[in-house]
Amino acid sequence: MTLPRRVKTIYNSAPPATWEPGQLDAQVGPSLLGHPPVEGPDSSKRLEGKVAVVTGAGRGIGRGVAKLLASQGAAVVVADVGAALDGDGEDSTPAAQVVEEISELGGRAVASYHSVATMEGGENIVKTAVEEFGRLDIVVTAAGILRDRMLFNMTEQEWDDVMGVHLKGTFSVVQPASEIFKEQGGGRIVTFSSVSGLYGYGGQANYGAAKDAIAGFTRVVAKDLARHGVTANAISPGAQTRMTDSIPDSTKDMRKGEFLPAPEGTLTTEPEQVAPMIAWLASDQAADVTGRIFHTVGNRVSLMNSPEQGRSIHKAGRWTVEELAGVFPETIGMDLVNPAPPQD
Ligand SMILES: NC(=O)c1ccc[n+]([C@@H]2O[C@H](COP(=O)([O-])OP(=O)(O)OC[C@H]3O[C@@H](n4cnc5c(N)ncnc54)[C@H](O)[C@@H]3O)[C@@H](O)[C@H]2O)c1
Repeated sequence: MTLPRRVKTIYNSAPPATWEPGQLDAQVGPSLLGHPPVEGPDSSKRLEGKVAVVTGAGRGIGRGVAKLLASQGAAVVVADVGAALDGDGEDSTPAAQVVEEISELGGRAVASYHSVATMEGGENIVKTAVEEFGRLDIVVTAAGILRDRMLFNMTEQEWDDVMGVHLKGTFSVVQPASEIFKEQGGGRIVTFSSVSGLYGYGGQANYGAAKDAIAGFTRVVAKDLARHGVTANAISPGAQTRMTDSIPDSTKDMRKGEFLPAPEGTLTTEPEQVAPMIAWLASDQAADVTGRIFHTVGNRVSLMNSPEQGRSIHKAGRWTVEELAGVFPETIGMDLVNPAPPQD
């Protein structure tokens, strides 16, 4: 069964000379890439003097983010409890190793082994930035775990653990950071959402709920902090990490129709490929970009549509159930299909 495509975009293989109105997916060629950087003398050190916290920075996508922010000049708190994929256990090795890798490349970093799943843990991570580097400018919340289960088999513990690391683990760091950002009149927040929640993936009621909640959280935080010079955006990444390695092939096949196809060889999924968009969002130049979700996979960066009101029906007076039953299938419901109908 092929699922209906949710993203309506066209892939243009010819590099456009200019961005055309209505163009939704374009391969950017040398003519656009050649635009000179306008921000200053050394745009390779775009984050010089900044201090960043990156949670989940010991592995996968967070590791790539921590290393890129450091190479762009930021001092980084590499925050990672070193948990197994299901959240069990603690291990200082991953975070310590990323700190070492950053130091070897001439960057500045310290590790924090606190869990983001408690307010105390989040506050300690933020405190580490201020104590070690004297300030805080950027928070990136990539820490995550999975406890996949069909809803009817899901336990309260599996729900709470996933909510704890993802949703509360975003709040626990962003909240104390927001106090500092408000005080200093600036800051950058990049949270982690997922198509699991934005589209809805089977077997991930806990994870999908947390990830869509993070998108909502980010939109609200963007509005709360806009007047204080703070931006908040969410990344919906796609990258090959232990998280995606845990997905069965049959499930991956089922989800294929939901993504844009790409020309052979251009869509690799190394976790480091998610980092450049985050580094740019964290920079001063991205001051006007806030409250948005960016889907970032391989060499493609997409601005996700924000939820908006679609087609509507209305009438004078209150609808009856009978009337809706009659009118719905021919109006707003005309082409709706059950994406996962009962199987024979
Ligand atoms: N990989 C993908 O394709 C993908 C897709 C959608 C969303 N995401 C999201 O991107 C983020 C990074 O995922 P990844 O694929 O790099 O995963 P990963 O498992 O490689 O890395 C996650 C890291 O988070 C750390 N962590 C777990 N619990 C923690 C806690 N309580 N406190 C501090 N650190 C903790 C782990 O130790 C691990 O190092 C996650 O939020 C994930 O949900 C990933």
